Amino acid sequence: MRATTVAAFLVGLLTPFTLAAPTVETVLTPGGYRAASNLHEIPSGGSLAHVGSEIHVLAANGTVVKKVPKGTPTKVKSAVSPLQTGWITYASWLNTGSSPISSFTTTWKTIFLFNSIEPNSGDAILQPVLQFGPSAAGGGSFWAVATWYLDSSNTFFTTPVRTSAGATLNGIITLTSSSGSSFNYNSQFTNIAGTSLAVTGAAQLTWATETLEAYAVTSISDYPAGSTVFSGINLKLASGATPSVSWAHQNDAADGLSTTINTNGATNAQITINY
Ligand SMILES: *[C@@H]1O[C@H](CO)[C@@H](O)[C@H](O)[C@H]1NC(C)=O
Repeated sequence: MRATTVAAFLVGLLTPFTLAAPTVETVLTPGGYRAASNLHEIPSGGSLAHVGSEIHVLAANGTVVKKVPKGTPTKVKSAVSPLQTGWITYASWLNTGSSPISSFTTTWKTIFLFNSIEPNSGDAILQPVLQFGPSAAGGGSFWAVATWYLDSSNTFFTTPVRTSAGATLNGIITLTSSSGSSFNYNSQFTNIAGTSLAVTGAAQLTWATETLEAYAVTSISDYPAGSTVFSGINLKLASGATPSVSWAHQNDAADGLSTTINTNGATNAQITINY
């Protein structure tokens, strides 16, 4: 596969919220290049909790191992960036109803893509991600999966787990419980151990996407030729209802990178990203 021979970092990642000042040591994350000092690896089996103005990193046994200040909310939803960086092409649905999304599942093969979910403010994201190439979480010239949670300044990730091209991935984001405006989520690859990440006390996550994001891609030839099918896309609401979903999509048509809605809706929908 061509991708193995280029330095392209193809990864399902987050809208670049902010770029760190040039004087700060930066690393490549799903939010673009960010301050290395705000990078936090989740201990195996650990989780995240929003507590007041802080986010706590918890060990598997519940011990708080790190407390960091929440980032100042900065809204940046993505725009298509032709052969540049960021979100290249994607499909999305915004839940404007009164019942929150309770689960969002997707199955796909041959990856470097992700499903993700964000709050209305666009200042955070929870996402099971496949990456090819190096990132702040590690990685190299191989495929690896991890779950990421980002706010406007902090980047949290589970230790990447190697996988192979052609593997079937099941990315799922689940609302585990909620109380008032405090929402508890879990995100994981259901068939890959070590990728589960619980985030408690978060804002409601309303904007669901299927996305291709890339960094350091300078030419269409930096992409392996082909397409990726996201299938088994299911969205459910906490009320128990299945929402009426029409997927919006953004393309980078000039460069031949596009998203096709094959089967619309919230039950076994299918979306293909062509590159
Ligand atoms: C909980 O886990 C942390 C991190 O692994 C460890 O340092 C601590 O000793 C553990 N505490 C208990 C009570 O097991």
